[in-house]
Amino acid sequence: MTPTPIIGPSPTPGQSPLAERFRRVRAASLAIAAPLSAEDCQAQSMPDASPVKWHLAHTSWFWETFLLEGSDGHQPFDPTFRMLFNSYYNGVGEQFSRPARGLLTRPSLDRVLAWRAWVDQQMEALIEAGPDSAAMALIDLGLAHEEQHQELMLTDLKHLLSANPLLPAYAGRWPLSPITPMPRSWVRYPGGLVEIGNDGAGFAFDNEGPRHRVWLEPYALATHPVTNGDWIAFIADGGYQRPELWLSAGWEAARAEGWAAPLYWRQVDGGWRCFTLHGDAAVDPHAPVTHISFYEAEAFARWADARLPTEAEWEAAAADLPVEGNFADGGVLHPLAATRAAAPGRPAQMFGDVWEWTRSDYAPYPGYRAAEGAVGEYNGKFMVGQQVLRGGSCATPPGHVRASYRNFFPPATRWQFAGLRLARDGVRADLWPLVRSVSEPPADGAARVTAGLLADPPTIASGHFYDTLGSRLFEAITELPEYGLTRAEAAIFAGHAPAMAADVRGRLGADFQLVDLGAGNCAKAEALLPLLAPARYVAIDIAADFLEEAVARVRQGWRGEVQGLAMDFAGRFALPDDLKDRPALFFYPGSSIGNFAPDAAARFLAGLKTDLPRSALLLGADLVRDAALLTAAYDDAAGVTAAFNRNILQVLNQQHGTDFVAGRWRHVARYDADAARIEMWLEADAEMTVRWPGGERRFARGERILTEISTKWTVSRLTSLLETAGFGDVRIWTGPDASFAVALGG
Ligand code: AVI
Repeated sequence: MTPTPIIGPSPTPGQSPLAERFRRVRAASLAIAAPLSAEDCQAQSMPDASPVKWHLAHTSWFWETFLLEGSDGHQPFDPTFRMLFNSYYNGVGEQFSRPARGLLTRPSLDRVLAWRAWVDQQMEALIEAGPDSAAMALIDLGLAHEEQHQELMLTDLKHLLSANPLLPAYAGRWPLSPITPMPRSWVRYPGGLVEIGNDGAGFAFDNEGPRHRVWLEPYALATHPVTNGDWIAFIADGGYQRPELWLSAGWEAARAEGWAAPLYWRQVDGGWRCFTLHGDAAVDPHAPVTHISFYEAEAFARWADARLPTEAEWEAAAADLPVEGNFADGGVLHPLAATRAAAPGRPAQMFGDVWEWTRSDYAPYPGYRAAEGAVGEYNGKFMVGQQVLRGGSCATPPGHVRASYRNFFPPATRWQFAGLRLARDGVRADLWPLVRSVSEPPADGAARVTAGLLADPPTIASGHFYDTLGSRLFEAITELPEYGLTRAEAAIFAGHAPAMAADVRGRLGADFQLVDLGAGNCAKAEALLPLLAPARYVAIDIAADFLEEAVARVRQGWRGEVQGLAMDFAGRFALPDDLKDRPALFFYPGSSIGNFAPDAAARFLAGLKTDLPRSALLLGADLVRDAALLTAAYDDAAGVTAAFNRNILQVLNQQHGTDFVAGRWRHVARYDADAARIEMWLEADAEMTVRWPGGERRFARGERILTEISTKWTVSRLTSLLETAGFGDVRIWTGPDASFAVALGG
């Protein structure tokens, strides 16, 4: 049954702009309560969340206590209300117990509403009489205070309704249009001396000042808040079960409260659903995650190898952005997926959608003094044990927040619309740009994904493994006991690098460049640089952000010229013209050549030679050996390769809008001895349909998607591969157990 609205039409417009503002703000509180029954307004679901009736009363209390009481001949509406609806002001006097606010069945809702009308009348008279500057400041504060309670009414109500097993909807408009996910990356900031805090223009809370200087080291901010899809990957990777990711107090809170997903989430048939102000809904993988505590945000950031921004970093980045976004006036009352790409060099969704947890304690700014008297208790006395949040949410009234706005909550708080944006330590601005992007994503990328998913067998190109997380997971794979490739190759380089260096100089002369294909963390090339001593090091990788960090590190440790190129070279390889000035030693270690389809491997190598005829190739390749050992290398006991494999679904969700639930796909690795190759698959654990903007496919239980092949070589096949591609005069080094080979040709 639809509850009967308790509120009538909004008041008539006032004469003065201030009176009109006052009426608008007061009416907005009533509008929030309008779809509710008296029962909805009465109940309290937890100590932190107050009943709607209490909010309607307390906001009136603020006006009566701080403005009307001071006027001549004031007679209280009801003297008992002074104590009943005092929230926390010791300077005013006693307060009724916060956790028991739901027990205040008297006064009735009608009487609270009558009080509101009475307060409105008196306040309008006060406003029309022309308040002095002290009263004006209090009116501004009262309006901002009422707006804060409007957001709390929504969050408290959401908590209350979520306790009802029928998961009743509140109201609002739900955006039904499908959303194409926006590409996400990082925005770099040089840091330095910045000013933060309110600059005195317009209203601000006292905690936003004084404006002051802060020193920032270079940093980077994510262009978008962390999404539900990211969070699902965190859960699937054991994020809630891994103490090493958590602050000690966070781990204790998570254990004590049994946290295993954001508040309001539940798993249904292997998928995630959540309670919203519109009732039960599927979790949208592209929308910002919300209803997480600071502790969870911290654990996530550590898992993602990033950190939370400080409030100064956040504010410096937000200072010149328009305060636009998904606020409460849109009626959506839920965070939405980004529909616009971030403007170049600017972060998106800084305002609205979700409050963003910061790493900053809620502390006074230098020179802060709380005001004299009870009203000085508004902010200052809470400056311990809380974290600052920035930016406003989908439940924040429009016009309420600004770049300097400091919200704050204790670190275990989950019922607010709070999410996070990742930050990273940056690189000195004089080293920019670190990485040039020389290939745009292919225009037909979406069509290729669709063709792959609809193919038989369904296939995902293994280039999709390597987003930042995938690159990190691969790094972890190379350290696994089962995955000996990297160590075997390193041992060959360690034993033979001087001979290789001499051989390379014989072929190319001394003035050559080292072109590292799929450089990743650049560690392999870095180890060879002192011996090979090339004139230039060119690091190429598909994962631009990941490469950037690595290039920054190489630049700090090696004197020579370093260039970073973000490039997907699997399609067609072409060095930028300015880098064709020297002969090149193409460096392709790690047996990545095995990840090509058999005929494509030779074509790719031949393309290198065509692009730069004055070149040689130094190539690492894994050799055919015992099948059980090979399989174990791709199905490790710790499950890192499984996480790496599943992450490809996350990448596809983010980049191509698929709705894969990664946790529902089983990692499978098998060795095909005839083709001499490992195959990695993902196997559906139940029948399911996967949808994306370009199509959909039904998967039967046990059906598999091919994500990677990794061909193994013999010395003779390797030799003919190089020769066919035009890199003749092949020389091969193998390790003591003949598990791996390094070949030089050209
Ligand atoms: C990058 N490439 C050489 C690795 C391989 O061994 O084929 C990728 C990999 N996949 C699972 N583990 C490692």
